Amino acid sequence: MPGERIYNFSAGPSVLPLSVLERAAGEMTNYRGCGMSVMEMSHRSRVYLSIFEETKADLKRLLRVPDTHEILFMHGGATFQFSAVPLNLIGRTGRADYAITGNFSDLAAKEARKYGDVGIAATSEASGHTTIPAQSELRVSDGASYFYYCANNTIYGTEWKYVPDAGGVPLVADMSSNILSAPLDVSSFGVIFAGVQKNMAPAGMAAVIIDRKLLDSQLPYTPNIMSYRAATDADSMLNTPPCYTIYMLGLMLKWLDGQGGVEGMERIKSAKARILYDFLDDSRMFRGCAAAEARSDMNVTFRTQREELDAKFVGEAELAGFVNLKGHRKVGGMRASIYNAMPSEGVSKLVDFMAKFERENR
Ligand SMILES: Cc1ncc(COP(=O)(O)O)c(C=O)c1O
Repeated sequence: MPGERIYNFSAGPSVLPLSVLERAAGEMTNYRGCGMSVMEMSHRSRVYLSIFEETKADLKRLLRVPDTHEILFMHGGATFQFSAVPLNLIGRTGRADYAITGNFSDLAAKEARKYGDVGIAATSEASGHTTIPAQSELRVSDGASYFYYCANNTIYGTEWKYVPDAGGVPLVADMSSNILSAPLDVSSFGVIFAGVQKNMAPAGMAAVIIDRKLLDSQLPYTPNIMSYRAATDADSMLNTPPCYTIYMLGLMLKWLDGQGGVEGMERIKSAKARILYDFLDDSRMFRGCAAAEARSDMNVTFRTQREELDAKFVGEAELAGFVNLKGHRKVGGMRASIYNAMPSEGVSKLVDFMAKFERENR
């Protein structure tokens, strides 16, 4: 089907709304009559600064970021933040607590160990990261600079259904794969960060939301480019920012507004996830990998009883126009990433295809 869009279930970079891509295409060579593309503009130009300011203001409004918190756009994706978080915060007391619920929190904790003492507040390793620890299982220490967790585990398909209570210790959350999918009380977080290439924009940066109270505890050798204080003082323009990614985030936020903001998105994403999980619960061939109470609404992991059948499914799905369903190489099986931009129809059609596959391969 040349020319047609397919259903892309990639975990990231991932699907963007067609209307956003079309708008960007329409503005590509001549942005609103200014005679050049956004890609070609000086980041200090009046036109670009208005894009930048509007994007920041829209994110602040849609996520209801209070005035106590600063929004930063930083290069380097989410992995950059694995270093930036301890460099900027661990110096408060010299130690931090990490909940390990998958690959990315594990990587973040390993990075933090270079800069201070890291306590493991909880780990879901025993269940193969198919579960999320309960509040009562969290070992939160008084003297921690911050409590770190990954709110949605992209690889394992699990999601924290509650905001941990760290007893007054600032919360740091990696929300790369579920930001903007539901309302959030930003005031209860010290730092929220997200690599943007899932629910926000094309790849190339992280959005960081930080409580201004935490801006001044960086370790003395923190590289300037990683410093939250320096980024705040320069309004995210310590150097040339990822201009086009920020512009695309702006278009995505306008689209999100049209879906009813984060409240609208929460309804839509819950309904989409329910279609897939209901099917998995009824199926005799496919089963969900994550524990029912920890299931992610963004990354749905599942498998059949046999690896050959998994491979056959992934191959046939691709031919039918459902791509990137292969699970992460660490876990195998399948994963359907159904971020905000995945249309409901993509999920219903995937389920129809799965039902057909099940009938044909009994
Ligand atoms: C939850 C989570 N955190 C961090 C990362 C790493 O992101 P990046 O590639 O932007 O460094 C990913 C990537 O998929 C992710 O899903």
